[in-house]
Amino acid sequence: MTEPRRPLVAGNWKMNCLSADGIALAKKVAKHVTSSGTNTEVAICPPYTLLGDIKAALAGSDVRLGAQDCHAAEKGAHTGDISVAMLADVGCAMIIVGHSERRSDHGEDDALVRAKAVAAQAGGMTAIICIGETETERDAGQTLQVVTGQLRGSVPEGATSANTVIAYEPVWAIGTGRTPTIDDVQVVHAAIRSALGKRFGDAMAAATRVLYGGSMKPSNAAEFVALADVDGGLIGGASLNVGDFSAIIDACGS
Ligand code: PGA
Repeated sequence: MTEPRRPLVAGNWKMNCLSADGIALAKKVAKHVTSSGTNTEVAICPPYTLLGDIKAALAGSDVRLGAQDCHAAEKGAHTGDISVAMLADVGCAMIIVGHSERRSDHGEDDALVRAKAVAAQAGGMTAIICIGETETERDAGQTLQVVTGQLRGSVPEGATSANTVIAYEPVWAIGTGRTPTIDDVQVVHAAIRSALGKRFGDAMAAATRVLYGGSMKPSNAAEFVALADVDGGLIGGASLNVGDFSAIIDACGS
């Protein structure tokens, strides 16, 4: 018997919030998580500038701190970049890598995403590795091919269920209010788990969390997370509203 996977809900604040709003929001999320007693693991990934403040705001709660990206190198001449050690130093436990906005805004490819995931894992972090097809790829019937290709290219050899979370985020569903059908989501998640199993073994695949991301909100979270291979969500827009984020946390847990 394999252990049930603990649901994970991670809020990706992207380039939103200044200190006062961010601190207030994080405190409310922490309060909800503590008072509700949910079994959902919850993480907040604010912009770099707020990491220290949010860490303090989350003190005394079980909400984890995450970053939205990192550099692959340990240190050195990389103006404007942030290393994994710096993120550990400020209290991060998780790092999102390969978000589609990083892939498109900054030209990040699978090799770079994989190098970042290696760095994150080597620094003791859980890497939340994002993959997902564009609308053109979906329309061309290439979803599974694209997603499994990104998985192969972006997930490092040293991946374990403890240091790796996969986030399936169809690019066309991010921030658009559109989502795939639940049947489509389950097909992709099952393909991801099966690909993990072939590469890393069935035990790893059975224990690794695969999140859905892309316009997840209170009204659709429960049906996504009820799917056999969906273990929570990576939440953008709805993570900026405490009511919506709390409702998603509740829907994903018990
Ligand atoms: P969204 O973003 O929830 O606003 O669609 C999800 C993400 O980009 O992680």
